[in-house]
Amino acid sequence: MKKILITGCLGQIGSELTMRLRKDYGVDNVIATDIRHVDGPVCDEGLFEILDVMDKEKNARSR
Ligand SMILES: NC(=O)c1ccc[n+]([C@@H]2O[C@H](COP(=O)([O-])OP(=O)(O)OC[C@H]3O[C@@H](n4cnc5c(N)ncnc54)[C@H](O)[C@@H]3O)[C@@H](O)[C@H]2O)c1
Repeated sequence: MKKILITGCLGQIGSELTMRLRKDYGVDNVIATDIRHVDGPVCDEGLFEILDVMDKEKNARSR
C-alpha cells in the first residue's frame, strides 16, 4: 500500500490522527513528521522524521 505522510504530527489533530492511522493501516505505513521532537508515543512508537513544511529548499533536495 501507499505510505501516509502526516505533517504537524505533534499538534492536537496530528497526534490523534497519527495514532489512529497507525492502528488502522499499520505502523510501517504511516510516517509522522513535525518540526520538533517530543518524547512519547507519536515520535517513539512508529516512523518519525523531523520535517519543516516551510523549508522549500531542503524538501526539494530530499526528493
Ligand atoms: N475545537 C475543536 O474541536 C478542535 C479540534 C482540533 C483542533 N482544534 C484547534 O485547531 C487548531 C489547529 O490544530 P492543529 O492540530 O492543526 O494545530 P496545532 O497548533 O495543535 O499543531 C500544529 C503542529 O504543527 C507543527 N508545526 C508548526 N509549524 C510547522 C512547520 N513549519 N512544519 C511542520 N510542522 C509544523 C507544530 O510543531 C505542531 O506540532 C489548534 O488551535 C487546535 O486547538 C480545535
